[in-house]
Amino acid sequence: MNQSKISLELKIDLLHKEISKEVLSSNELCDEFRLKYLSRKGKVAELFDELRTVSAEEKPKFGKTLNELRNYANNFLEDSLKNFSSQKEKQKIDLSLPGRELHQGSIHLITQTMEEIQNIFISMGFDIELGPEIEDDYHNFEALNFPPDHPARDMQDTFFLENDILLRTHTTSVQIRIMETKRAPIRAIMPGRVFRNEAISVRSYCLFHQVDGVYIDKNVSFSELKGTLISFAKSFYGNNIKYKFRPSFFPFTEPSLEMDITCFLCKGSGCRVCKNSGWLEILGAGMVHPNIYKKVGYNADEFSGFAFGMGVERIAMLRHGISDIRILYENDLRMLKQF
Ligand code: DAH
Repeated sequence: MNQSKISLELKIDLLHKEISKEVLSSNELCDEFRLKYLSRKGKVAELFDELRTVSAEEKPKFGKTLNELRNYANNFLEDSLKNFSSQKEKQKIDLSLPGRELHQGSIHLITQTMEEIQNIFISMGFDIELGPEIEDDYHNFEALNFPPDHPARDMQDTFFLENDILLRTHTTSVQIRIMETKRAPIRAIMPGRVFRNEAISVRSYCLFHQVDGVYIDKNVSFSELKGTLISFAKSFYGNNIKYKFRPSFFPFTEPSLEMDITCFLCKGSGCRVCKNSGWLEILGAGMVHPNIYKKVGYNADEFSGFAFGMGVERIAMLRHGISDIRILYENDLRMLKQF
């Protein structure tokens, strides 16, 4: 067998493989391909030149395989061009199509309201303290001076997990936890989720949010409590609001009060939101009860202080005229997008 015959056969084979590996994904690459393989000085033509070196009887056979190689290269180029241009066609942008809307998320109204309340108290020098949502009866009730037969401990109000373990019904429980671990002065707010085993309705949901607050130091007075609450209400609802304090009762404060502001909707003349009273209750508060100091080992003669608590959903609903608490938990985009 003659040497040039083997090498031509091999060369044809190798070139075939080489071509098959080309990736022609742009006009430039197709031009390069044409020049490299199919031009007059290209690699295929070079092999045609080598036909001179094979014997006369083998010429037709090699001529045929070389023609096949050239056709293969031509087809390869054409197919790539077709593929490539149809892809380009697909990628063409149709400028007449309407733009695609990018949806942007937003902070939930409850979180926004919580943050706003927190910021006001932070500006007054309050710290933020958090406590567990799964609480024991002691921190949620007993240490807060709830008598053992208090109705709030009733199965209808509280989700009990075990005998003495429950889902906290208010964030006031955190007040006990802070006082157990820190000495006065204490000035903190305690935001968080609370849970109540109530029938779900327009007004009540099985979970909601509260922000409690506590300030304990030497000589903290009732006037300071009122001053703090007025300052909060004006920052949150506006300087022009009218407010009033009503005596109230909570087991953990004495004396206790509730704060009302003029109804933002009717400005006091009476409407559906304020149930025709012209006033809206916004929070509960009072001076920390002496029994609380005893429970946590504070000297009640040395320290005094006040506490307050408010419902975040209620505040947000009143402010935005939302009449059904459940829509705050339904994650309906029509509602979420408004805030
Ligand atoms: N814990 C009370 C509730 O859930 C709200 C409250 C009232 C908290 C008076 C307080 C307070 O800290 O002093 O209804």
